[in-house]
Amino acid sequence: MTLRQIVNLPEPILRRKAKPVTKFDKDLQTLIDDMIETMRDAPGVGLAAPQINIPEQLAVIEYSEEDEEEEFESEEAEDRPLKPKKLYVLINPEIIKVSEEKVLGVEGCLSMPGLQGEVERHEAIQVKALNRYGKPQKLKVDGWMARIFQHEIDHLNGVLFTDRATSVWRLPDPEAPEEM
Ligand code: NI
Repeated sequence: MTLRQIVNLPEPILRRKAKPVTKFDKDLQTLIDDMIETMRDAPGVGLAAPQINIPEQLAVIEYSEEDEEEEFESEEAEDRPLKPKKLYVLINPEIIKVSEEKVLGVEGCLSMPGLQGEVERHEAIQVKALNRYGKPQKLKVDGWMARIFQHEIDHLNGVLFTDRATSVWRLPDPEAPEEM
């Protein structure tokens, strides 16, 4: 596997709508594995293909709800078994249903290091997508996972979190905890 270079704004590819994936060949499998490795190395909780200069509708997401709870937990967190991280590969994803409820949360993006913003997202969504072998899948996600899904699907449409943010600020330390 190879680490791919993550591109930053103002790279124009980040503003273009990505093309649907049509070939589920060996090259695609290599690309997906490279994206997973690149996301983990960054580290980030999600990565969309345009972020590595590939104009295709493909995103990888890896996140554990545990990560979200960490900062609110005390010592007892250590006694509980670690929840495994969930890994998703989304190809040609389409949001087919959204919750009426929206929630505010703070986001960052691997393509805009050091920037954070508060973004309103649907609390829960349903997504139709293909898996890495081209098999259709329907996914229901909520909470932080739903937020990451919406952030990554936005990337495939050339939309960045700063377009939706109610406020954006720059961190003194460019190491943001959770970038997508
Ligand atoms: Ni992002």
